[in-house]
Amino acid sequence: MQKLTVAIDGPSGSGKSSVSKEAARRLGAAYLDTGAMYRAVTWHALDAGTDLSDAAAVEAAVKAADLFISTDPDLELVTIHGTDVTQAIREPFVSEAVSAVATNLAARAELVSRQRAIINAHERIVAEGRDITTVVAPDANARILLTASEEARLRRRGLQLGGTQSAEALEAQVLARDAKDSTVVNFTVAADGVATVDSSDLDFEQTVTAVLAAISAQDK
Ligand code: DC
Repeated sequence: MQKLTVAIDGPSGSGKSSVSKEAARRLGAAYLDTGAMYRAVTWHALDAGTDLSDAAAVEAAVKAADLFISTDPDLELVTIHGTDVTQAIREPFVSEAVSAVATNLAARAELVSRQRAIINAHERIVAEGRDITTVVAPDANARILLTASEEARLRRRGLQLGGTQSAEALEAQVLARDAKDSTVVNFTVAADGVATVDSSDLDFEQTVTAVLAAISAQDK
């Protein structure tokens, strides 16, 4: 099969992870969830007792993190120094702290370089996050910004969390986090050459179909 790199960016709750994973399966490609990498190093920094307001300490914690992430779309596994943190990184305490790492430019540089190494090690891969189309893999064969209305994003994230969160907690996790993160990366407007897929009125299957169509339109 031909070499293929697909870059997909978008805000929380756009359906980015599940859609990118399914697109990877159908393309016979690996899958990289870069948000999980930010979450894992945040878990590590918290576990090590790092003061997240100390930029140099955060940078050191990220550089020291022995992080493994599965790129098999059918195996969700993230480890830090051999500890399985796959579930732990989805906990609210990580979601609430992750922006402190994601807005640290030295931490970003470290993770961007690890992400490029993972992407380069695969013949075919779908990588998703916030800065994949613009910073990590601007030369990808296909680049997509997956968006959705604020209302659709809040509804999906709420369902994903099993309806356990109050409306305020959800807004804090989805909207406030995106607002913080977008101070360092732009994932609300498509860069030149990046196709936009708006999933607000599409169900899962329709979104996957739209993303696959956008990939084949660009990958010629
Ligand atoms: O997609 P997610 O919610 O799992 O992402 C976790 C955090 O990592 C979120 O605050 C945004 C940040 N992130 C980033 O800054 N750049 C990426 N490429 C991926 C995620």
